[in-house]
Amino acid sequence: MLLPVTSKVDAGGHLVIGGCDVISLGKKYGTPLYIIDLATLRRQMEDYRKYFGYPDLETGIIYASKAFTCTAMAQLVSEYGLGMDVSTGGELYIALNAGVPPEKILFHGNNKSYAEIVSGLDSKVGVFVVDNFHELQMLADICRERNIRQDIMIRITPGVKASTHEYIQTGNQESKFGFAINGQDALEAIKITSGSGNLKLKGIHAHIGSQIFNISCYDRLVEVMIKFMARVKEELGISLAHLDIGGGLGVKYVPEDRPPSIGDLAGVIYDAVKKYSVKFSHGIDKLYLEPGRSIVGNAGVTLYEVGAVKEIKDIRNYAAIDGGMSDNIRPILYGAKYHAYLANRMEDIKSCNEEDIRNYSIVGKHCESGDVIIDDIRLPQLKSGDFIVVGTTGAYCYSMASNYNGQPMNAVVAVEEGKSRLWIERQAYNDLTIRDKRLYGD
Ligand code: LLP
Repeated sequence: MLLPVTSKVDAGGHLVIGGCDVISLGKKYGTPLYIIDLATLRRQMEDYRKYFGYPDLETGIIYASKAFTCTAMAQLVSEYGLGMDVSTGGELYIALNAGVPPEKILFHGNNKSYAEIVSGLDSKVGVFVVDNFHELQMLADICRERNIRQDIMIRITPGVKASTHEYIQTGNQESKFGFAINGQDALEAIKITSGSGNLKLKGIHAHIGSQIFNISCYDRLVEVMIKFMARVKEELGISLAHLDIGGGLGVKYVPEDRPPSIGDLAGVIYDAVKKYSVKFSHGIDKLYLEPGRSIVGNAGVTLYEVGAVKEIKDIRNYAAIDGGMSDNIRPILYGAKYHAYLANRMEDIKSCNEEDIRNYSIVGKHCESGDVIIDDIRLPQLKSGDFIVVGTTGAYCYSMASNYNGQPMNAVVAVEEGKSRLWIERQAYNDLTIRDKRLYGD
């Protein structure tokens, strides 16, 4: 799946998603526009619930809100009974403001401030995932002052390498996240926790990376984590019952991608838990997962209008769109690859005459040569006023968007069964100066 599951082409050659003609959506809400197909989003959440609904092992599916969050998204996630992972006070605010039950919130983050810890405690979040000694101390102190007991997990750096872009690998020993499993840090953190009457240690957490295709690393991760739990039991006499193995499942961005399914992942993880519980004589009561991208990635597309088309003879053809790195930073940041469709003329590219096809670089409107969304794609000859849809932009595009070059942030619209509903309004120009102060005067 690259385009959302409901994608179709109508008689006029327009791309239709969730029963809505995307060209009409562009006219109604403007472009660039993030479009979210609710059927795809629902299916992904249902699949997580279905495949991880093991008969003999309790699981908690915690949506990683950093992938994409807003009020409506947080509400939908809660309707499906999923928990929510927040990693800053800001994400916590969005979740609480949307009505996410606080006990379903996992509070992540490798540098929680005093104020963030306090707001997590004030709002009674379910679990703090503690990253480092500084946080552990601060949390224990605040809980003692308030005479409360807070559930926590300790984040472990397991030394398991995920094959993905180095910027989004997090499980290796030199990672900035968590307590290293080798040496004494992780054990020491657990010792401190068990000595504090104000912290209740529920289990351990690890997240090894994102956009992972080779899921055998989860077998290794479960092995390392359960082995460590057995060591904690043996050396400290502490029985840890909960294991959180983070997110990371990859999704399809370009036609060649072959990501494993949620069912495949569920199988690998189940087998690993069973195998290593026996091997290390240490069972677990509850398994947590924190999927982000694999829930929302393929549900989202971005619709752009083509402006300038520049054909530099025998060198390169450029099609410039009305957004770019401000609404999708991933190509310039990670070299991420995307695929696009000509949404107002979806004719099968194979049925086009060869002379009507061109290779294009789809470039943004920002003042950087690197503002390239797709380096090289074959499309029917483009003209100004055409509409391009870029697939798989549901995750880490809106959430990493910026106002670079004074570009207002795109609207987000959700579609289902022929109806569209605005989830986030497009920023207006005055949003760009709303917090500015004048050089002189009051
Ligand atoms: N849990 C933790 C603790 C995480 O740090 C992350 C992602 C997730 C869960 C969710 O991982 P997912 O299922 O989405 O792979 N900006 C990058 C991705 C950074 C991921 C950061 N952590 C990108 O655009 O590819």
